[in-house]
Amino acid sequence: MRFTPASLPALLLGLSSTFSAVAAFVPPASFKNANLVHVVSAEKNYIKETINVLIENIVKTPVDEYFLAIPSDKFSRIGSLEVKDRKDSAAGQFVTEAVEVDSSSATQYFRISLPKSLAAGAQQTLGITYYVLSAYRPLPATITQDEKQYLVYDFSAYCPSAYETTKQKTEVKFPSSDVPDFTQLAAALPQAQKQGSKLTYGPFDKAVPAGALLPVEVRFEFTKPVSHVERLERDIEVSHWGGNVAFEERYELYNRGANLSTLFNRVKWAQSQFYNPPTPAIKEMKFSLRPGSEDVYYTDVIGNVTTSRFRSSKREASLEIKPRYPVFGGWKFPFTVGWNSDAKNFVRQLSGGSYVLNVPFLEGPKQQEGVEYEQVRLQILLPEGAENVKYFTSIPAGSIAESTVSLHKTFLDTVGRTALIIEARNLVDDLRDREVIVSYDYSLLSSLRKPVVVFSSAIGLFVAAYLIGGVELKFSKN
Ligand SMILES: *[C@@H]1O[C@H](CO)[C@@H](O)[C@H](O)[C@H]1NC(C)=O
Ligand SMILES: *[C@@H]1O[C@H](CO)[C@@H](O)[C@H](O)[C@H]1NC(C)=O
Repeated sequence: MRFTPASLPALLLGLSSTFSAVAAFVPPASFKNANLVHVVSAEKNYIKETINVLIENIVKTPVDEYFLAIPSDKFSRIGSLEVKDRKDSAAGQFVTEAVEVDSSSATQYFRISLPKSLAAGAQQTLGITYYVLSAYRPLPATITQDEKQYLVYDFSAYCPSAYETTKQKTEVKFPSSDVPDFTQLAAALPQAQKQGSKLTYGPFDKAVPAGALLPVEVRFEFTKPVSHVERLERDIEVSHWGGNVAFEERYELYNRGANLSTLFNRVKWAQSQFYNPPTPAIKEMKFSLRPGSEDVYYTDVIGNVTTSRFRSSKREASLEIKPRYPVFGGWKFPFTVGWNSDAKNFVRQLSGGSYVLNVPFLEGPKQQEGVEYEQVRLQILLPEGAENVKYFTSIPAGSIAESTVSLHKTFLDTVGRTALIIEARNLVDDLRDREVIVSYDYSLLSSLRKPVVVFSSAIGLFVAAYLIGGVELKFSKN
């Protein structure tokens, strides 16, 4: 096809209409970042990013929304975004929300609502933190069972932003000073500086325009497991009648580290364990449970796993479990743990028939290298007949994908137990101390229902046994 002046406008028209159909969202240029410090922590098996930024309203009207830019390839792996005023902790967490996803754009945004709109020319210091899950790529991709493991992380040395940034720097923190590779910048820019286990890009004193990126890559030693829980199903069953709260957790655990380049050698592994060297395999997990936890069990697809140790005292309860085999990169280990606790450790009665349950949202393993959770389903089974269920959780709101209250019917229930189900995404073990508080009403009538059902179905069984016995009797007579 040849372009003639006549065909050109039509072509342009065609192009512009295609573009407008997928027009990317662009935040209004209401701010500049007067000063920004970006900290990328690669110390655990997930990334934690902290952005401390002095923002300034550069338009003539008050503004109450700041937009956080996230590269599209990371957007679905971002978790637990929290924003606060660095100079006013009383202002609490700011409300954040993902801007409707525009899949064609290279950048996605979170909208941060400032509690008070910022007047023209005014400044505010935001403290922004979030986690990036499935952040790394092992390099080499395969290693032998006793080799060191190295991980790679890609990011931008200019902090991605919807606004012009006057001054900034990016600091990267590693688990050790063994950082064999990192991108060096062009000569015109300040050179990256490595000091021990810290690497600094910048300070960049020339204004960086909105949307500008400066891609860099770092490679560092991480001879520890890259523990990734694809899905955790955590059930908490409250029984007023039994005075008990039962916990059960089912894990789909996966190691995202480097795969083995040779077949696993059990003899060599057993010998090396004598020296307890650092290893990228998951060989042990420690759960620190609430005091008063008891009746612990630990199973996998084969059945009971005997390699566990449980210790309990007045102050703490600790469960140490070993997978049936060391879980190397690319391997999975699905398992279940469960325990009971006295209801009085978690349930309080308010006035009359109102109750409050306070439980941790997560109680998974506490590992020095961290654990990340892609999906978590928390199911809280309240007693049969519980109603008017309300909940609050200190897990960041953006991590809660969905919550529902429904009825869950089991064998002996007449009405069905009231189930609160909360689905969360992209959590990390840093959030282990976050709790869920559930309030509900539960009347004397509904508390009587269970024993009555147990009693009447016991009569049913008795009658059935009697009838069967009678039949047998008849047969034996014949
Ligand atoms: C598993 O272990 C528990 C407690 O240690 C025991 O009560 C149960 O019978 C065991 N189950 C099997 C299938 O071995
Ligand atoms: C590592 O192992 C997993 C599971 O077997 C496989 O899906 C993945 O492709 C492997 N990766 C490499 C780099 O060999």
